[in-house]
Amino acid sequence: MDRVWKKKVIVITGASSGIGRAIALLLAKKGAHVVLAARREEPLEDLAAECEALGVQALVVPTDVADAASVRHLAEEAVRAFGHFDGWVNNAGVYMLGSLEETPDEAFRQLMEINFFGTVSGSRAALGQFRRQGYGTLVNVSSTFGSVPAPYVSAYVSSKFAVRGFSASLRQELLNTGIDVCTVMPAAIDTPLWRHTANYTGWRIRPVEPVYTPERVARTILRVLRHPEPETLVGPAGKSFATMHGLLPGTFERTMRASTDALHFKDARTGPTSGNVFQPMPEGTGTSGGYHGAGKQWLRRFLVAGGLAAAAVTLRRRASDRRLGVRLSHALGA
Ligand SMILES: NC(=O)c1ccc[n+]([C@@H]2O[C@H](COP(=O)([O-])OP(=O)(O)OC[C@H]3O[C@@H](n4cnc5c(N)ncnc54)[C@H](OP(=O)(O)O)[C@@H]3O)[C@@H](O)[C@H]2O)c1
Repeated sequence: MDRVWKKKVIVITGASSGIGRAIALLLAKKGAHVVLAARREEPLEDLAAECEALGVQALVVPTDVADAASVRHLAEEAVRAFGHFDGWVNNAGVYMLGSLEETPDEAFRQLMEINFFGTVSGSRAALGQFRRQGYGTLVNVSSTFGSVPAPYVSAYVSSKFAVRGFSASLRQELLNTGIDVCTVMPAAIDTPLWRHTANYTGWRIRPVEPVYTPERVARTILRVLRHPEPETLVGPAGKSFATMHGLLPGTFERTMRASTDALHFKDARTGPTSGNVFQPMPEGTGTSGGYHGAGKQWLRRFLVAGGLAAAAVTLRRRASDRRLGVRLSHALGA
């Protein structure tokens, strides 16, 4: 038990697995009461029992964040049970792979409903109570992909850039109100997300290393709940990506495309799946997804594979620019 957390109440969406589950367990260990939301009731009940065994109260509220009324109900239930809440973590989210042309429009839109509009609904619901009580911390979970783009994940990237932009805007609106808005952007994390992924690429996918633990994200989120920070990247790989993209966006994007092709699409072929986008999947209720990254190896491979490919593309482009230059020179008579 930690004095700082005792009697604090935190609402967590997406608590039925992965990062949300890790946040709930860590909060419970520290002595905070938790309000657990997601679509799957059974894993939430199991988690609530684990939290209560640690000596705190845990309230389960089955919630679909794509439905604004369901999110309002979550806030009402939290206040009915505890009288207030100190923090709200908009963590629920789904992942989806596929080129834009492969991705069905309805799946793209549903992902936005969950990842982006779910965050908007959660923020509105939390804000109502934060205004009444005069304080509160909102944490919105974005991603490294809220900071740098990647190919074959345009829906996800759009949603996470949107979460980041929305949160930054809201943060400015709430300056000096006692209400903080924080964005947390994890790199690749070992959770069941990869098993829940909607995948229209035709290739079986696993996370590309380095893959960090959900507990690492949970520790960061607890830190941010206590000492609010505007934006926090979790995992050195994500920080390197953000720096590289900021410095050399063109080279980064070519490298990202080349290394994604080289590293991602090499496993077995598989059929398309909508994963947990339209409804929850029974499997994947743990904190970890069972992916153990070899870590540092990968960044080197990314840089070498991508760097070589980017260099090849650049050389080819230069050669073709030269040919074009020669043709133009001929045409212009220079
Ligand atoms: N794993 C990574 O590499 C990674 C990296 C960066 C950011 N993130 C972000 O971290 C967050 C948590 O993901 P995770 O890795 O822990 O994956 P996860 O294990 O699949 O957890 C996702 C959670 O979101 C819930 N959820 C999905 N759709 C929902 C809906 N419509 N309404 C309510 N809850 C919903 C799921 O529960 P139900 O299915 O029971 O509803 C589950 O509890 C997501 O926002 C994700 O984008 C993950």
